[in-house]
Amino acid sequence: MARHAAADLAGGVRLLAQEGRLPAGTRLPAERELADALAVSRTLVTTAMDLLRTDGVIASRRGAGSWITVPDQGRAAEPAHAPDLIDLARASPEAVPALADAVAVAARLLPVHLRGHGYEPYGLPGLRAAIAERYRARGLATTAEQIVVTTGAHHAFGLVFRMLVHPGDRVLVEQPTYPNALDTIRAGNALPIGVAMTEDGWSLDGIEAALRQSAPRLGYFVPDFHNPTGHRLDDAGRVRLGAALRRTRTMAVADETLVELDLDGDPLDGPAPLAAFAPDQVITIGSASKSHWGGLRIGWVRAPVDLVDRIVSVRATMDLGAPVFEQLVLGELLADPEPVLARRRRDLAGRRDLLLAQLAVHCPQWIVRRPGGGLVTWCELDEPVATRLAVAAESQGLRLVPGSRFGVDGGWERWLRVPFTLPPAVLADAVARLGRVARAVGGRRVLGVERVPVA
Ligand SMILES: Cc1ncc(COP(=O)(O)O)c(C=O)c1O
Repeated sequence: MARHAAADLAGGVRLLAQEGRLPAGTRLPAERELADALAVSRTLVTTAMDLLRTDGVIASRRGAGSWITVPDQGRAAEPAHAPDLIDLARASPEAVPALADAVAVAARLLPVHLRGHGYEPYGLPGLRAAIAERYRARGLATTAEQIVVTTGAHHAFGLVFRMLVHPGDRVLVEQPTYPNALDTIRAGNALPIGVAMTEDGWSLDGIEAALRQSAPRLGYFVPDFHNPTGHRLDDAGRVRLGAALRRTRTMAVADETLVELDLDGDPLDGPAPLAAFAPDQVITIGSASKSHWGGLRIGWVRAPVDLVDRIVSVRATMDLGAPVFEQLVLGELLADPEPVLARRRRDLAGRRDLLLAQLAVHCPQWIVRRPGGGLVTWCELDEPVATRLAVAAESQGLRLVPGSRFGVDGGWERWLRVPFTLPPAVLADAVARLGRVARAVGGRRVLGVERVPVA
């Protein structure tokens, strides 16, 4: 039992190091302090530290203590290629089948571009026009001049963040939220202010109060198939949020990375983009990563025209443009977008339903809401054991990301994000493994530390 507990403690520290929440170089408290804080025996802590040292997660020197040595995310990235490992930490489907043909067309279009220098800091004109056209189809008047093509939505957020936010500024975020956005905010020495989401979605009261009381420099919202909860902000919510942003003159990013993945409907019939409700305040970011393929690394910013040049000048400090070939590939995929996107939605809806059915069989004690779109389910566990699950899952060849990764200050131990992006057979195997892990972990405590969920 003590050996189990020591392995749990070591696993928890390893997970925090892998997620970058304990960055390389972080000094650990002395063993006695750690034992007192966790209310466990000194022997247990010593055993855990030995395990971590053997694994190369920490290094120690007499007199200098122990510190984390794992480079951020380093080990987390590596075993994904282990033959039998199933990765439920990442929510990214494989490329759409049409990609191969689009690559062939792009190869035929490339020679014209080879005569030029290939630097396109605003993006290829044809692709900017195609992206603008998609906004117009969704009911938001947009010109190609408002679009800057980036290397993914994450890059797009980084650009807007660098343009608007300074160290010490506050950034309002949903709680829980997309962890890489939180990392960008923290890396820029800004302060994320989390507004807890409710069972049904957004607390507009909470957001309005936070806008008034915290005067954030920027808001970051994922209004369409929110990552990780899967919620979608309805029209009335958009009207209210737009009005609050206008009233308080707060700039906000609407991250629409998942908007095309409306699994029960048609994205063209969905609520109007958030930018329609506060045109001067909302900068929209989008991406082909989930709708077509993450490996294209193509995303974009849609901004008021007067901000576009500023965005491009910020870009000059990070990169000088997105790759031309990949832009040609996406341009081809967007030439007639509907059939490709409809197939993507159909495939993902099938995987979502499979995941829900498998979870009902293997993890019946969890509460799982059926998301109307996106790529993930946000599962409410019967106990606050998400980190323990993630640690124990490794022994089953399963990678999980616990709910705490989505919180501003951790928490969310009762929640687990489970994506439905893997091919059906793999997904079914993954949930069977998940059920085994849940049964093994059920009823035991999180490393002796009870964390209270934030909401
Ligand atoms: C809400 C959200 N924003 C941004 C991204 C990153 O997208 P990209 O691959 O285009 O950088 C993701 C990927 O999971 C996401 O879910």
